[in-house]
Amino acid sequence: MNLNRGRMLTSMPGPSVIPDRVLSAMHTSMPNIYEGALLETSMSILDELPSIVRTSGHAFMAISNGHGAWEMALTNTLSRGDTVLVLESGRFAVGWCEQAKVLGAQVEVLNAPERGPIDPDAVEERLRADKNHTINAILAVQVDTASGVWNDIAAISRAIKAAGHPALFMADCIASIGCVEYLMDEWDVDVTVGGSQKGLMVPPGLGMVWANDRAMAAHKRADMRTPYWDWTARMSKEGHYKRYCGTSPVQHIYAMRAALDMIAEEGLEAIWQRHEVFANAVRSAIEAWSAPGGLEFNILDPAHRSNSTTTVLSGSIDAPRLCDICENQAGLILGVGLGILADSSFRIGHMGHMNPPMLLGTLATVEAALQAMDAPMGASGAAAAASVIADALKA
Ligand SMILES: Cc1ncc(COP(=O)(O)O)c(C=O)c1O
Repeated sequence: MNLNRGRMLTSMPGPSVIPDRVLSAMHTSMPNIYEGALLETSMSILDELPSIVRTSGHAFMAISNGHGAWEMALTNTLSRGDTVLVLESGRFAVGWCEQAKVLGAQVEVLNAPERGPIDPDAVEERLRADKNHTINAILAVQVDTASGVWNDIAAISRAIKAAGHPALFMADCIASIGCVEYLMDEWDVDVTVGGSQKGLMVPPGLGMVWANDRAMAAHKRADMRTPYWDWTARMSKEGHYKRYCGTSPVQHIYAMRAALDMIAEEGLEAIWQRHEVFANAVRSAIEAWSAPGGLEFNILDPAHRSNSTTTVLSGSIDAPRLCDICENQAGLILGVGLGILADSSFRIGHMGHMNPPMLLGTLATVEAALQAMDAPMGASGAAAAASVIADALKA
């Protein structure tokens, strides 16, 4: 039976739900793009962005998705022939690595153990072996949206320092900014990459890169620079037009302004805590549901499961069918499995503009679909998740 009327709910790990306030802010007629209110709004965003990742460095914003932001980070700091060490823990660092290869870098991949996070000790060992410091940059993802892993960026950074290695450290935080604690300066990260469409609650279309002084020094030497991404051009004093290498993304600027206001009103620490509660609720649901032949976590170590998204292995349950029932019969869009997990997993995003009815509605709908499929299932995950939310409401 089809029960799908009413508002569709997306619980994919991005693009995430856009708050009505952000959508309304985008509903505006075209302003003057050369002077006046739009420029002030845009500059206020660029001024505030460093605080979102806790850096005193520079922030750059482009009309792009996350792939564009990856390219902005690479082309501004590297030269052809440079060596890049990619710390893989799912799927996304490999995508970044493919770009680096096409752009002319030599790449080496260090894989995380299966279903686990990047091992900082393995990173230290690899870097100690690089006695001549031939590696120029190290790429890692804080949260891999395919595997659902959370990597300890602070520990990886300590490993790099312990090896005494001077390579630039770059972190992709596209699936974690605005969801999970991230302290760029304190953790000594040189380049951070972000996108608008997940924890930042803005439609896809803005890519951001943050750079510290070491990254800006590398930028001066970099020969991969191209006109569109070039930071020097984007910092030009000649005109705001150059900040976006052309016409500004007007509606996205207004959206980002509204989203940053919402983030400031709630406070980043409170946002990180809210995401932790929601992640714990999802985890308790999966634990309750799990049964022989049924669901289980993809990431084995509970301490390395992301607070923004969870990847669930589906065992004997047909994951694409589960997603299909949820979406087409019930109005809930889940994340399908990615890459090698395409047919054997699904993903629940718990990021950004979310409250208990949205989260519990998601989990109860998954539970109903599992029941409809006669899937092997332990206890009620929805009830278990409600208890986690209840504890948080009491606190
Ligand atoms: C961790 C991570 N990095 C990079 C990307 C690529 O971003 P985009 O699809 O916006 O290009 C994604 C997208 O889901 C992601 O989750």
